[in-house]
Formats: sequence, C-alpha cells, structure tokens
Amino acid sequence: MTEAAILGFGIVGSGVAELLDRNADRIRERVPGEIHIKYILDLREFPDSPYGDRIVHDFDRILEDPEIRIICETMGGKEPAYQFTKRALEKGISVCTSNKELVAAYGPELIAAAREHHCSYLFEASVGGGIPLIRPLENCLAQDRIESVVGILNGTTNYILTKMERFGSDFHAALKEAQEKGYAEQNPEADVEGHDTGRKIAILTSLAAGRTFAYEDVYCEGITAVTQEDFAAARAAGCVVRLLGVSCFEGDGRPMVLTAPFAVPLSSPLAMVNDVFNGVLIRGNMVGDVMFYGQGAGRYPTASAVVSDVLELALNEGRWIPVRWENGEKTEPAPIGERRGVFLVRTAAEDRERAAALFGEGMQELSAGQDELVFLTGELSEAEFADRAAGLPGLRSRIRVLR
Ligand code: HSE
Repeated sequence: MTEAAILGFGIVGSGVAELLDRNADRIRERVPGEIHIKYILDLREFPDSPYGDRIVHDFDRILEDPEIRIICETMGGKEPAYQFTKRALEKGISVCTSNKELVAAYGPELIAAAREHHCSYLFEASVGGGIPLIRPLENCLAQDRIESVVGILNGTTNYILTKMERFGSDFHAALKEAQEKGYAEQNPEADVEGHDTGRKIAILTSLAAGRTFAYEDVYCEGITAVTQEDFAAARAAGCVVRLLGVSCFEGDGRPMVLTAPFAVPLSSPLAMVNDVFNGVLIRGNMVGDVMFYGQGAGRYPTASAVVSDVLELALNEGRWIPVRWENGEKTEPAPIGERRGVFLVRTAAEDRERAAALFGEGMQELSAGQDELVFLTGELSEAEFADRAAGLPGLRSRIRVLR
C-alpha cells in the first residue's frame, strides 16, 4: 500500500480522491497495491463527504507521518504551497501538483530539492489540464530540438471566445458560465488578462530550453479588448480568434515568447479547438509537428493528470525522476519588437489612403464599409508595425495572424 495525502480539497483535490477510488481496479493493474489517501489538508470541514474523516488542518501532521510517500498539492497559489512542497521534498516525500503558478515561479528549485533528497517533483497537470503533455515532451520528444510551441493553453478564455464567436455572447456572461463550470481561476484576471497562458507557455519554454524562461519575460496581452467586430474581421480573413501562447526558438537561440489573441487560419488544427479544450502544436527539428488536444481545465481532466503523476511516483519510490529543467539560470528573451508577422487591422474608413501609403504593396484589403476598413498587412516586424500604425488616427484594433 502507498500512503498519500492531498493538499487542498477544492475542485481538483476532490477529483483526485474520487478518481483514485473509482478507478482503483484499473490503477492496481499498473501499480501493485493500493494507493490510499490517508490525509486531506484543508481549512474547512467536509462533514457530508465520504472523505470527511481524513480532513486535517495542520500540515505537520502529514509531514510527521513516516508512512506518507506522496503528496498531491492541489491548493494553487504560491503560499503556503511553496513552503509545504519544499518541506515535503526535504523529507524525501515526492510531490505532484496542478499548481502552474508555483511551478512557473519555483520549478527548478523544487526539482533540484527533490533530486537532492531522492524523491521527485512532477507537474503534468500544471499545463493543458488532462492532456498528457509534459511527460511526452520530456520523454518521447527528448531527442528532438524543439523549434516552436504554439498552444491554446487556457480553457476559460477558449470557452469565452468560442461562445462569443458562435452565439454572439457577451464577454461577462460567458466568463460567468466558465466560472460556474469550475474552469476559471479564483481570480479570473489571471485567465482573461493572459497571465495563466503566460505561466504555461513559460513552463513549456523552460522544459524545451532546459533552463528557466521567466514568466515575467512573457510579452502578454489578454482577451478583454476582443470585440464582435474583431470576430467579423477574422472571418473575413478566413480565421477564428484564439488566445495563444507562442514560443519560437529561432536564429540566435533566444526564445521569442508571447501570449496574445491571434487570428488563426481555418486550415490550422488549432482553429478546431473549441470550448474548454486546449490544443498544443510542438515542432521538433526531426519529428516535425506534433499536436496535443484535450480538455484543458475542469475537475476530472485535471485530476486525471495529477493521478498519472501519482502512479509515476508510486512506481519510482525512493528515486528522482529526471526533469530536464533543473537549471534555474534565466534564458534571455528575444525582444518583442523583433518578432515578424502579419497583422489583421481594423481602422476607420477615412484612413484608407493613409493605410495604403503606410503599408504599401503588401497590404491586402478585406472589406471596406462606410465606417470601417479591414485589411491584412504584409510581413512586418512588431516595431515596424507600431511605427506605421501610429499614422492611422482611426485605428480600432490589430490582431496578429498565426502563420
Ligand atoms: N483556469 C485555467 C484554465 C485552469 O481555464 O485553463 C486550468 O489551468
């Protein structure tokens, strides 16, 4: 029997307990002996839950029990999750987590602490919810040089954008629905302002590079300014609007990393990723494009990823499972101004002549009503685009186009 504990009995933590029970026979086929949840740490009592008798309020009770071999940290947030995780690893107790905020901020330190104390720190559930992503990147793609990672990494914003696009829904109503379904972060700002996607693309970039890409260095735009007019412009360009995390390793090796709404061509597999689903395209120098797809948030998908780590930890008790991102040294980001791409622009109809003069031959007009001109630019750097767009007094919006 492997004794384990869960920190935080919220949506994900309670899903982990339930999954371990419901699929116990299936799990036993992989890991001999039962995986038993002995404690659940939470501030609250759960008198009506079948797990109510396992609730404890003092972390030291878990730490001081020599039977505990695995901790699932599903609390979220940096503190006290960081202190609890560090103390557990220092005692040789392996930890797995769904907490991307913690992984993005302290990943290499916690991986190194685990190595030093002959246990492991795993975080499959921190990116892409239920999609197996981190282990495939670490194991199955270990032999490739990663050239780019492009992903829809936030279920909440994808849900909101899909509802707005398909049903003309209002942003706030769609956000409320996502919150009710348990997809959103406690503070939805992290979802809608792009910070959650930023943390996830920073983690994937760090794993691809083998050293830290700080999430503070991710250039970040959210979806709060996306309007129905932007969806119409995207349609005219044969695209849909999606919030993407993008990481490219080009030229001098400095990763270009950003999160922003993109116009995604209908021919891209990412254009078919709707609702709470996430999709990630990883390009390796040998394998080419590999696509990962599945539910990026929610109780059971996220619990499924946490429990996949629990099984890995149970099978590797007493040893460190290597994670290539042990080096906490920061990677220098490529400046956003140097990024090259095509932009989808909405501006006032009166700007038509100015736009033609500023954007020249590469410009492709898509629609021009009495009120509004919609066009695609040729390929430009971000800095060149900003310079030229400053000459459009009626500029309403610009969205990057995924190539
Ligand atoms: N709020 C996150 C999302 C949860 O919507 O994707 C999963 O990380």
